[in-house]
Amino acid sequence: MATEEWVRVADYDDVPEEDTLGTEIGGVPVCLYKLDGEIYATDNKCTHGDADLSDGLIQDGCEIECPLHEGRFDIRSGKAASPPCSEDLRSYPARVEGGVIYIKLVQA
Ligand code: FES
Repeated sequence: MATEEWVRVADYDDVPEEDTLGTEIGGVPVCLYKLDGEIYATDNKCTHGDADLSDGLIQDGCEIECPLHEGRFDIRSGKAASPPCSEDLRSYPARVEGGVIYIKLVQA
Protein backbone atom coordinates (compact mmCIF):
# COMPACT_ATOMS: atom_id res chain seq x y z
CA MET A 1 0.00 0.00 0.00
CA ALA A 2 1.59 3.26 -1.11
CA THR A 3 -0.35 6.41 -0.50
CA GLU A 4 0.12 10.16 -0.44
CA GLU A 5 -2.28 10.31 2.50
CA TRP A 6 -1.17 10.78 6.08
CA VAL A 7 -2.27 7.66 7.94
CA ARG A 8 -2.88 7.56 11.68
CA VAL A 9 -0.63 4.89 13.18
CA ALA A 10 -0.45 5.32 16.94
CA ASP A 11 -0.67 7.74 19.79
CA TYR A 12 2.52 9.66 20.55
CA ASP A 13 2.57 8.24 24.08
CA ASP A 14 2.43 4.67 22.74
CA VAL A 15 6.10 4.94 21.70
CA PRO A 16 8.48 4.96 24.68
CA GLU A 17 11.35 7.48 24.63
CA GLU A 18 14.51 6.01 23.04
CA ASP A 19 12.54 2.92 22.09
CA THR A 20 10.45 1.36 19.34
CA LEU A 21 6.91 0.33 18.55
CA GLY A 22 6.16 -2.27 15.87
CA THR A 23 2.88 -1.88 14.03
CA GLU A 24 1.28 -2.55 10.64
CA ILE A 25 -0.39 -0.26 8.15
CA GLY A 26 -2.38 -1.83 5.34
CA GLY A 27 -0.30 -4.98 5.59
CA VAL A 28 3.03 -3.12 5.70
CA PRO A 29 5.04 -3.82 8.88
CA VAL A 30 6.30 -0.49 10.19
CA CYS A 31 8.59 0.36 13.09
CA LEU A 32 8.16 3.66 14.94
CA TYR A 33 10.99 5.18 16.97
CA LYS A 34 11.15 8.06 19.42
CA LEU A 35 14.53 9.82 19.63
CA ASP A 36 14.78 12.98 21.75
CA GLY A 37 11.03 13.32 21.42
CA GLU A 38 11.11 13.08 17.60
CA ILE A 39 9.19 10.32 15.83
CA TYR A 40 10.75 8.36 12.95
CA ALA A 41 9.30 5.51 10.90
CA THR A 42 10.90 2.75 8.82
CA ASP A 43 9.98 -0.69 7.55
CA ASN A 44 9.98 -3.11 10.46
CA LYS A 45 11.52 -6.06 8.55
CA CYS A 46 15.29 -6.15 8.40
CA THR A 47 16.61 -6.10 4.82
CA HIS A 48 19.09 -8.85 5.70
CA GLY A 49 16.73 -11.51 7.03
CA ASP A 50 13.50 -12.35 8.77
CA ALA A 51 13.70 -10.20 11.87
CA ASP A 52 11.57 -7.42 13.32
CA LEU A 53 13.59 -4.31 14.07
CA SER A 54 11.06 -3.37 16.75
CA ASP A 55 12.62 -6.24 18.74
CA GLY A 56 16.09 -4.69 18.34
CA LEU A 57 18.01 -2.22 20.45
CA ILE A 58 18.63 1.47 19.82
CA GLN A 59 22.38 2.07 19.86
CA ASP A 60 24.50 5.22 19.74
CA GLY A 61 21.39 7.39 19.94
CA CYS A 62 20.28 6.99 16.32
CA GLU A 63 20.85 3.43 15.12
CA ILE A 64 18.64 0.36 15.39
CA GLU A 65 20.49 -2.90 15.91
CA CYS A 66 18.79 -5.93 14.40
CA PRO A 67 18.05 -8.62 17.00
CA LEU A 68 19.14 -11.46 14.69
CA HIS A 69 22.67 -10.69 13.43
CA GLU A 70 23.26 -7.28 15.03
CA GLY A 71 23.50 -5.34 11.78
CA ARG A 72 22.49 -1.70 12.12
CA PHE A 73 20.51 0.98 10.31
CA ASP A 74 20.37 4.73 10.79
CA ILE A 75 16.87 5.35 12.16
CA ARG A 76 16.70 8.87 10.68
CA SER A 77 17.37 7.82 7.10
CA GLY A 78 16.98 4.03 6.93
CA LYS A 79 20.55 3.76 5.61
CA ALA A 80 22.38 0.52 6.33
CA ALA A 81 25.00 1.44 8.93
CA SER A 82 26.84 -1.76 9.72
CA PRO A 83 27.25 -5.29 8.32
CA PRO A 84 25.76 -7.68 7.56
CA CYS A 85 23.13 -5.12 6.54
CA SER A 86 23.92 -3.54 3.18
CA GLU A 87 20.49 -2.78 1.72
CA ASP A 88 18.83 0.35 3.12
CA LEU A 89 15.47 0.25 4.88
CA ARG A 90 12.55 2.23 3.53
CA SER A 91 11.86 5.18 5.79
CA TYR A 92 8.65 7.17 5.89
CA PRO A 93 7.73 10.77 6.69
CA ALA A 94 6.20 11.07 10.15
CA ARG A 95 4.43 13.90 11.94
CA VAL A 96 2.69 14.35 15.27
CA GLU A 97 -0.52 16.32 15.65
CA GLY A 98 -2.72 16.47 18.74
CA GLY A 99 -0.80 13.63 20.36
CA VAL A 100 -1.31 11.35 17.35
CA ILE A 101 1.38 9.99 15.01
CA TYR A 102 0.73 10.04 11.28
CA ILE A 103 2.98 8.64 8.59
CA LYS A 104 2.96 8.56 4.80
CA LEU A 105 3.67 5.21 3.21
CA VAL A 106 5.93 6.72 0.60
CA GLN A 107 9.71 6.74 0.51
CA ALA A 108 10.94 9.52 2.82
FE1 FES B 1 18.89 -8.41 10.47
FE2 FES B 1 20.52 -10.40 9.73
S1 FES B 1 18.37 -10.43 9.86
S2 FES B 1 21.06 -8.41 10.44
